[in-house]
Amino acid sequence: MTTTEPLPRRRILVTSALPYANGSIHLGHLVEYIQTDIWVRFQKLRGHECYYVCADDTHGTPIMLRAQHEGITPEQLIERVHHEHKADFDAFAVDFDNYYSTNADENRVLAQGIYRRLRDAGLIDTRVIEQFYDPERGMFLPDRFIKGECPKCHALDQYGDGCEVCGTTYVPTELINPYSAVSGATPVTRESEHYFFKLGQCEAFLRDWMRSGNGGRPPLQPEAANKLQDWFEAGLRDWDISRDAPYFGFEIPDAPGKYLYVWLDAPVGYMASFENLAKRRGLDFAAWWQPDSNTELHHFIGKDILYFHALFWPATLHFSGYRTPNQVCVHGFLTVNGQKMSKSRGTFITARTYVDHLDPEYLRYYFAAKLNERIEDIDLNFDDYVARVNSNLVGKYVNIASRSAGFVSKLFDARLCDTLPTRDLKLIESFQTAAGTIADLYETRQFSEAVKTIMALADQANEHIDAARPWELAKDPEQHNRLHELCTTHLNLFRLLTLYLKPILPNISRKVETFLRIDPLRWSDAGDILLAHAIDTYQHLAKRVDPAQVEAMLEKNRENMKPSKPISSAPSSSGAAAQNKTTASADTIDFDSFAKIDLRVARISKAEAVEGADKLLRLTLDLGDQTRTVFAGIKSAYTAAQLEGRLTVMVANLAPRKMRFGVSEGMVLAAGPGGKDIWLLSPDDGAQPGMRVK
Ligand code: 2FM
Ligand code: ZN
Repeated sequence: MTTTEPLPRRRILVTSALPYANGSIHLGHLVEYIQTDIWVRFQKLRGHECYYVCADDTHGTPIMLRAQHEGITPEQLIERVHHEHKADFDAFAVDFDNYYSTNADENRVLAQGIYRRLRDAGLIDTRVIEQFYDPERGMFLPDRFIKGECPKCHALDQYGDGCEVCGTTYVPTELINPYSAVSGATPVTRESEHYFFKLGQCEAFLRDWMRSGNGGRPPLQPEAANKLQDWFEAGLRDWDISRDAPYFGFEIPDAPGKYLYVWLDAPVGYMASFENLAKRRGLDFAAWWQPDSNTELHHFIGKDILYFHALFWPATLHFSGYRTPNQVCVHGFLTVNGQKMSKSRGTFITARTYVDHLDPEYLRYYFAAKLNERIEDIDLNFDDYVARVNSNLVGKYVNIASRSAGFVSKLFDARLCDTLPTRDLKLIESFQTAAGTIADLYETRQFSEAVKTIMALADQANEHIDAARPWELAKDPEQHNRLHELCTTHLNLFRLLTLYLKPILPNISRKVETFLRIDPLRWSDAGDILLAHAIDTYQHLAKRVDPAQVEAMLEKNRENMKPSKPISSAPSSSGAAAQNKTTASADTIDFDSFAKIDLRVARISKAEAVEGADKLLRLTLDLGDQTRTVFAGIKSAYTAAQLEGRLTVMVANLAPRKMRFGVSEGMVLAAGPGGKDIWLLSPDDGAQPGMRVK
């Protein structure tokens, strides 16, 4: 009868990507944490020694600026966010063995130690580079903190790394009229010495590593391995690992005023979190991280951070004398109802908003039903979500218990039979033998296949109940013995299904364990049968979802997403959340925001060329009761003489912006693809300067 043999006990360390400490956890993040948590719970159920660690990713410029914007210290900010993140993970039953912070002593010592070892191995270079600098704030500006006009389509206010309107990527020096997103000042270029990790010298090692096998399994999925091949072919560039003060992070040991780039110390946070856990649990940290360690290391990440985890991270680990990862498990992004998560559509759903309306266990179930081992995006379709939860989870699985438990309580004194006839034992056995297949599916992260297999068993159980018609047998006391056997059989099937779903549904499983009065189920219990055993009264295990709950959540979410105060136009996070970068900032605005724009008719009383600027004209705009100076990038379409005396429409309440050539006090409105084809908005004759346009 026993279908499982004792397994050799593996020692497994698992991580999920560290979320940035300046943004909320949203459903896009949760794909990864739920995927990892299911895998970890499965390993633990199998009896392996498995630890799941994570932390907040706390360093870097966006977090430093966000704290400044809020008028608090970065330490206060990361402390607050830590609690919020932890509460969200708890709500979704994401059960870390340790949820730590990269701003911790363990991480400083480890990260600085790794730097020293790489330096001593001759893998650190220094070079002087030129970068944009904000003279007002006295800081170098990362690309995302420089904004300006797109050199291609001339859209205004685009980030320094690419245009969200036309999709062109460029370097910040190509922006027209660049300005600092932090202060609005015109940035200047400045030189500074930077430290580089010589990734180019690690290629041979990385090629070996990606071919290495752990139990016959290479560390990367085929799609990820192909990506690495492309990167090798393009040539590995050295990696800039330093940043200048002011920077919230760890100082480079031998370079005062220079800091380790956040992406160097972030993955080291995996080690730090484990070291912190090891201290508390009496584990041998060094043994887990030494090169020939007989333990396993598995990282779960999103596809946007593959470069960091499949190139920089194994290389920095190896060349600083540590073990390398056995597996980097990459997943795709989340779309909602077929589209990128979007604030205006209300589908940029935070963990908190979800929890306030819907059961987290249902999202775990839904994600599991969609997740596989490939790097594919997965779609959360709310109609499909409601259908799967209601008809599969509640209608098929939970239903098996509710169809049998009542009879056992009412007619058989809440006790299961002492023995079962062979035909029933055979049915139970067929469910038991599925344990091996299902385990393989979990192990290889084919969760959707696992769910399919389990639901096919649930179908079988329901068909058996339908055919046996227990409600008929209940009416005839002579049939009660058979009814008792059937209920016992069906509850045994239900117990097995619960075990198989336990990595996905920890809370429902716990309730079932209470109902069946059994110890917490382990995978090896698949071989047992519950007989001559008293059970509890059945309590509802799960309720159906009402589509109105989903609607209420989306509505609430739309409200929560209404624009709040921007933080110096700074992006709040990337990486795990990078999938939403574009949508979040290039989204629509609501009517209230639109209504705030003060559009006025203006007469161009003077138009002049600007010395040193190819595209700009300096316009003096007459608003009736005041004049404004505005710089407009329209020189390719108009001569100064063509403009003087014309009426146009301007944004009159745009905050003045300091540009290289002077302060611009508004913006004139124009349309067209650029070049010669730019048409200034011209109100009808009869409009008067100063008139409001709407
Ligand atoms: O992309 C991100 O959201 C990063 N905070 C992930 C870091 S993962 C690890 F390397 F620390
Ligand atoms: Zn553009």
